[in-house]
Amino acid sequence: MMRVARLYESTLGKKMVMAVTGVMLFGFVIAHLIGNLQFYLGPETLNAYGAALHRLGPVLWLARLCLLTAVALHIFSAVQLWRINRVARPIGYRKLSPVASSYASRTMMLSGPILAAFIIYHLLHFTVGTVHPKFSHQVGGAPEVYHNVVAGFQQIPVSIAYIVAMGFLGFHLMHGVWSMFQSVGWNHPKYTPLLRTAAVVMAALIVLGNISIPISVMLGFHQ
Ligand code: HEM
Repeated sequence: MMRVARLYESTLGKKMVMAVTGVMLFGFVIAHLIGNLQFYLGPETLNAYGAALHRLGPVLWLARLCLLTAVALHIFSAVQLWRINRVARPIGYRKLSPVASSYASRTMMLSGPILAAFIIYHLLHFTVGTVHPKFSHQVGGAPEVYHNVVAGFQQIPVSIAYIVAMGFLGFHLMHGVWSMFQSVGWNHPKYTPLLRTAAVVMAALIVLGNISIPISVMLGFHQ
């Protein structure tokens, strides 16, 4: 226990926490996307999927608890690392060097809080339903997911907000996946460009998959 605490006190320990929780959250985003894409299979399939998740009961709550802990640790270590960086460099660079850092990496502390705000809104929108205009439940008590998604995205400003948030998610994942490769030491002159491309492609696929849903609803491609 003491060893873990001592490791966390170091910058490396905090980076490890960022990487491990980042991988967990990345896994969730992929699983959630696969679940969301069932939208294209129609209302029965998507609603059955939603109902099956809710039938998991205590297991679902355990998964939610793990996810929430991962989010909290991810944010906590990010803030601590940011503060360490600031103390190490109290006067910012007079001129920012775009060579050492990409646009995505410089905006992590912007995309991170925006994503946190998005997740809070998203939970109130599609899980709790308090900010949804026509939130409804199935007979068994689980949300009527297909209807909630269609009615939610028929509000154009809401769809646009989701699309913008997914843009930030893309930037955040792009740099996050890349940093994770660095943290686990996958850095090699031959493979580094390939890993960078892999990070961009993964982030782009996740963004495209997610934004396709509000776009489809706005274009009327739904049942
Ligand atoms: C356009 C893209 C997205 C759509 C259409 C969507 C749709 C949904 C829906 C319908 C639910 C409620 C499911 C239910 O209660 O049965 C939900 C829950 C949730 N979504 Fe999303 N989502 C999207 C993107 C995201 C992203 C990018 C994240 C995270 C970064 C995210 C995080 C969550 C979380 C944490 C929950 C709560 C899961 C739970 O504990 O029940 N979603 N989403």
